Amino acid sequence: MTFAAQILTLYPEMFPGPLGTSLAGRALGEGTWSCDPIQIRDFATDKHKSVDDTPAGGGAGMVMRADVLARAVDDAMTRQPDAPVLAMTPRGEPLTQALVREIATGPGVTILCGRFEGMDERLFEARPIREVSIGDYILSGGETAAIVLLDACIRLLPGVMGAASSGDEESFESGLLEYPHYTRPNDWEGRTIPQVLRSGDHAKIAAWRQAMAEDHTRLRRPDLWERHSDVRDQSPSGAQRQTKEKRA
Ligand code: ADE
Repeated sequence: MTFAAQILTLYPEMFPGPLGTSLAGRALGEGTWSCDPIQIRDFATDKHKSVDDTPAGGGAGMVMRADVLARAVDDAMTRQPDAPVLAMTPRGEPLTQALVREIATGPGVTILCGRFEGMDERLFEARPIREVSIGDYILSGGETAAIVLLDACIRLLPGVMGAASSGDEESFESGLLEYPHYTRPNDWEGRTIPQVLRSGDHAKIAAWRQAMAEDHTRLRRPDLWERHSDVRDQSPSGAQRQTKEKRA
């Protein structure tokens, strides 16, 4: 079944953009996913086709109008009633691999891309829209954030990556960063590939990779490490491990 992406935007020409190349581009050509950019301005009703207005209470910039956005969202929901509606905003819930997986296993997604200072708050009160952020920084609009979200979803669709990738996400979902990778030549500028990776001992290699993933996570992302440790300590095998650690 095709994963159907509808993107509500003032810049439909930004899509599929980079998603028209490489793996996502091939999947688009094969019909694994579809990309429907929809011009928000088409839902404006006044003669100037205005989609924004000055902020109530004063201040800089412009605010996207609730009435215009709601018409665009309603139209998209009529076409795809079962797809979740997301709005890309810097104040949204953080995009995680778990959320990506949740969306990718559904029938598709409708994504509303904001521009200017933001969208009239009443839109979020009146429509079932989930706000999503791709990080604590401000983009010039939601379109690039939508591309990030779609890229992460598309690579998970059946047949897009093949079996090779499925393990990565599982390791990320378990809350660890990836272990380091190496390839030939064995000696590069006097640096060699760790001996264990050339040992052919798969159990040893797996243990080394797990230890490296844990070290990297602990040193680079203490926030992820803390969460990972909590989850591990609550699982039956984690409880066992903790007892062993205490014994050691
Ligand atoms: N729009 C502007 N900044 C954004 C962000 N960080 N995430 C999602 N949408 C945005």
